Amino acid sequence: MLGPVILAASRSDRMRRLVSAAPVTKQVVDRFIPGEDVEDIVPVIRSLAEQGLELTMDVVGEDITSPAQAAAARDAYLELIDRLKPLELGTRAEMSVKLSMFGQALAGGHELALANVRPVVEAAAEIGTTVTLDAEDHTTLDSMFAIHEELRKDFPQTGCVIQAYLFRTEADARRLAASGSRVRLVKGAYKEPASVAYQEKHEIDRAYVRILRTLMKGKGYPMIGSHDPRLIAIGQELAHQAGRKPDEYEFQMLYGIRAEEHLRLAAEGHRMRVYTAYGTDWYGYFMRRLAEKPANLRFFARSVITR
Ligand code: FDA
Repeated sequence: MLGPVILAASRSDRMRRLVSAAPVTKQVVDRFIPGEDVEDIVPVIRSLAEQGLELTMDVVGEDITSPAQAAAARDAYLELIDRLKPLELGTRAEMSVKLSMFGQALAGGHELALANVRPVVEAAAEIGTTVTLDAEDHTTLDSMFAIHEELRKDFPQTGCVIQAYLFRTEADARRLAASGSRVRLVKGAYKEPASVAYQEKHEIDRAYVRILRTLMKGKGYPMIGSHDPRLIAIGQELAHQAGRKPDEYEFQMLYGIRAEEHLRLAAEGHRMRVYTAYGTDWYGYFMRRLAEKPANLRFFARSVITR
């Protein structure tokens, strides 16, 4: 029951101020977001890559309120890509972007987000890597998929995320699988109404398996974004049934969550990518991580009380 309450708080400015000001927040946040700027994050990237892991990088932020902030978000990604260049990781370090951070919700936002994300995709291609468009709440998705399609005309490797909890996703998955796209499948992290999304865990898990089967059978590149041991095992089985080799799909998990499993899968020869977020505007990202696992909230609350 706590999850929806925390997700509602993730949209509240008052809660943002309270949580951000709590003195211990930082040490709990660090577990999920291992750095505030590019100087902090480069050693983290190097260390994960040395352990045989791949990365997808998220400069945290969303819900910006001006075109200048959207341009600053674009520039933060360009700076990161510039710093990645000498590491020569190629596709081992790709970018994940939220279009809301690139101005999608502002007036003329669709065009603005496309104009801001394109140079990031171009810069990523110049260093031999690519970009995946994260999925945000359901009202943003038609615009996200249209931008994804537009970018793929010049950069076919551009990926996107689909969310198993949404009713629309099975149709989206069929379209993306037929068009040969890179697609990350996740359960979904936003508070969505019953008119558009499954609400029960078992329904979401069943939808996840149906959608993953479609992706595995299709022409694209499936990215299994989950920490759920059952879904990971099913993912391996579906890849096997579809005759996919280890470099024809991958697993993805979030930094700080089941880290031992990242290493286990990589050691078994799977391609394992760690979604690694950094930056100062961490509130929304952090609150979604709390909502996914109430034990995180208890840990956070205990840190506040015992200080
Ligand atoms: P589930 O929530 O059932 O968790 C399975 C197990 O994993 C738990 O029992 C626990 O052990 C562990 N676990 C999961 N979450 C945890 C947490 N926060 N803290 C500690 N342990 C945890 N969503 C979205 O809407 N749009 C997006 O673009 C993305 N992008 C994205 C990228 C990647 C690489 C991942 C892994 C996830 C996302 N998500 C996302 C988030 C996703 O929708 C979902 O909320 C989380 O992955 C949690 O769901 P699981 O599949 O891990 O299963």
